[in-house]
Amino acid sequence: MLIIGFESSCDETGVAIACTERGLLAHALHSQIAMHREYGGVVPELASRDHIRRIVPLTRQVLQEAGVRPADLDAVAYTAGPGLAGALLVGAGFARAFAWAQDLPAIPIHHLEGHLLSPLLADDVPSFPFVALLVSGGHTQLMRVDGVGRYQLLGETLDDAAGEAFDKSAKLMGLGYPGGPELSRLAQQGDPRACALPRPMLHSGDLDFSFSGLKTAVLTRMRALQAEGRDADPAARADLAASTEAAIVDVLAAKSLQALRRTGLKTLVVAGGVGANRHLREQLQAALAGLGGRVYFPPLHLCTDNGAMIAWAAALRARAGLVDLAAPQDAGFAVRPRWDLQDVCVPA
Ligand code: KG4
Ligand code: ZN
Repeated sequence: MLIIGFESSCDETGVAIACTERGLLAHALHSQIAMHREYGGVVPELASRDHIRRIVPLTRQVLQEAGVRPADLDAVAYTAGPGLAGALLVGAGFARAFAWAQDLPAIPIHHLEGHLLSPLLADDVPSFPFVALLVSGGHTQLMRVDGVGRYQLLGETLDDAAGEAFDKSAKLMGLGYPGGPELSRLAQQGDPRACALPRPMLHSGDLDFSFSGLKTAVLTRMRALQAEGRDADPAARADLAASTEAAIVDVLAAKSLQALRRTGLKTLVVAGGVGANRHLREQLQAALAGLGGRVYFPPLHLCTDNGAMIAWAAALRARAGLVDLAAPQDAGFAVRPRWDLQDVCVPA
């Protein structure tokens, strides 16, 4: 079964074609990072307009690269939420129109399910059940995953997401957008033990996270550096970046290990943009090796938003018999800017 997938929930337009038997056939991506950088964050209206500009050329590109004609396709998948309403509507509207024109079923996909299943696009894939650490710009969740559509929330952030903690700390330090990769780059020259920053909720006894206090600690530290006239000192800045990264990574790693202990599982899967963080990858790899377990990541270029994870999530749901291919195509194209992942789970 051949599925074309569309992602447009935030600042990346992604289109991909996946085959339920042969895996990913082609994927194309346009990132709006350069456009939003000027504003220090995503401007929703600009994001929507840019998705409109990109979606048709990207669709042509993947069809050509995969050697597939629209008539060869069996279904159309798209991110229906969560995300920015206007941005989602572009992908949903285009996908639904494409499906209607080709007389194909349209499959709405939950963006986080796309991230969650993206490690299954790697060459070396984890087997179920596993614990998933979902760390993106908008979400930080630990989940027990027993199969496609079988997700149980173990813990989540009570305030900022891990990606937000990276982005906001980076902004406080005057770094560019998106802050995660920028802060991580600066951190390479710093000493992670230089500033004593809090590790929030490390011993809270549950699997929830909180990152807003960390942001305040970074602000306080920045102000102290300003008062000392050292806020432009490269070494002091690198030390603060390294200490911030270490604080975020320590909490993510510790809570992931607690989740493995609680569930008795030894396989951890990390997904979402923050999964690209080198320090997080190395720390988890070392910790899991020590436990006799294993940690899996999506291919590096598929950690942040992309169409491949949407096409692949639809393919896996189709393989598991979880999509209604006979649903009427004229069902409208409502999107869900806020959408609980539990809504796409198989009833227990
Ligand atoms: O999954 P994603 O592309 O978008 C959402 O669905 O939110 O994640 C984007 C987030 C941003 O907060 C970005 O700063 C963070 O992932 N990120 C990183 C790195 N690469 C991306 N954070 C830390 N280190 C990185 N290397
Ligand atoms: Zn995402």
